[in-house]
Amino acid sequence: MSNLVTIDPERILAPIDHNLFGGFAEHLGRCIYGGIYEPSSPHADEDGLRRDVLKALKRLGLPVIRYPGGNFVSGYRWRDGVGPSEERQARMDLAWHDLEPNTFGTNEFVGFCRKLGSEPYLAVNCGDGDMREARDWLEYCNGTKDTALVKLRKQHGYQAPHGVKYWGIGNEVDGPWQIGFKTPEEYARAYTEYAKVMKWTDPSIKLLAAAVSLWDKSFVERVQLLMEHAAYTTPFTRQNLIDYIAIHWYVGNNRERGFADNDFASYMAISERFENLLSATEGIIRAMSTALRLKHDIPIAVDEWNVWYRVGNEGKLEEIYNLEDALVVAMHFNAFIRHAKTVKMANIAQIVNVIAPIYTRPDGLVLQTTFYPFEIYRQTCGSAALDVHWSGDTFSTPEFTGLRTLDVSATLDAPAKRLAVYLVNRTETKASETSVELTRGRFAGPAKAFIVNGSDIKAQNTFATPDQVGVREQTLIAAGQSFTITLEPHSFTALVFDLA
Ligand code: AHR
Repeated sequence: MSNLVTIDPERILAPIDHNLFGGFAEHLGRCIYGGIYEPSSPHADEDGLRRDVLKALKRLGLPVIRYPGGNFVSGYRWRDGVGPSEERQARMDLAWHDLEPNTFGTNEFVGFCRKLGSEPYLAVNCGDGDMREARDWLEYCNGTKDTALVKLRKQHGYQAPHGVKYWGIGNEVDGPWQIGFKTPEEYARAYTEYAKVMKWTDPSIKLLAAAVSLWDKSFVERVQLLMEHAAYTTPFTRQNLIDYIAIHWYVGNNRERGFADNDFASYMAISERFENLLSATEGIIRAMSTALRLKHDIPIAVDEWNVWYRVGNEGKLEEIYNLEDALVVAMHFNAFIRHAKTVKMANIAQIVNVIAPIYTRPDGLVLQTTFYPFEIYRQTCGSAALDVHWSGDTFSTPEFTGLRTLDVSATLDAPAKRLAVYLVNRTETKASETSVELTRGRFAGPAKAFIVNGSDIKAQNTFATPDQVGVREQTLIAAGQSFTITLEPHSFTALVFDLA
């Protein structure tokens, strides 16, 4: 088994926007209550936030966090979640059929983000809400003039504006499961009107259009109409109204969310699916940009993505991940890096308990398998994506033939002269000898390898056995133009080299 990865550090694909390492927190199950926020816990800080959760989240260094949903937002009234906590009223949440106590809301979320050093990203209700409500929420958060809403924020204890930069209009409006599902035309119209008044309220914000999640035949029309309606400046709107086209997907090792039931090779081939979704979205945005003669780029935000196929609503989406899921998470980051020219934000859904890398109990937490690749990318990813070529061993599945066993991406941190190469070895039983060759420049001494692996592809981290899958760090010697390593079966390896 042998593979060759060829890299020219000057072949830069695009700058990397570190918002690729974003997260998402929804009022759903134990994500907020019992996850992020648990005032009665011995782990709680002065704001009721779980210290142990904050500490684990800091390791992921999330640059941006989307909130409060998800499906939840399509029935949410932001006013229910602000003001003195004892005066807040509980409401029925029809998205997840649960009681929402509203003790955690906008100001608590912004405070949580600030503690993490993350940018808050708020999604407004475009389900059973309206544009007045959305615009008022924005004014409450970001307003600087002496308006009633700004006075209200100050009365609630927040003198300074929150300066929330990212705002999404609606969530998965293309899904019949959504409160306030919309046809492509209905959403394009609603989006434009919401966006108009929101940008008039605060022209500095960045707006995300909730374009696609179902991937049915309306997909092309949805992006097309959104762009036709809102992607350019008119004398009336005075601004381009779309800053990102947002898309969602979830994958799994079953037929519903993947290619086959519990088949490792087919699961590893899932990268073909999200590569395809990215390329298709890039294609339609490019076609429309050409047709509309746009002079600016419209990037993609994958503002919900993850592995999710085992547990549904009844299990409150508390998925326990295994090693093969961690490899799929790593392949997502490889895809985002390879598509760095167009993908400028991505948000793992979600961050705690609900399909998340962190799993809590009242007395502590476990770092799931998927936590580790996320942490490694976040710590080592450079500022530019490189155009890597790789060849070697292949594998086949009932759907595909000749897929490369390695899934690869690479980044460069030019000022630090540091090259990071990310390799997922998709073989179940065989080690893969792999050479990384520079076609320009030289390696300059010790390199680091960070390896995520476990005893077998189904290994999981649980409270009983929290360390079945983790990271091993090795220091290796790299000199000249070629470096060879044996990649373990079913592993993710990040190689970090200094360049001469
Ligand atoms: O992340 C869980 C749910 O998945 C979100 O609420 C929704 O947007 C998606 O369908």
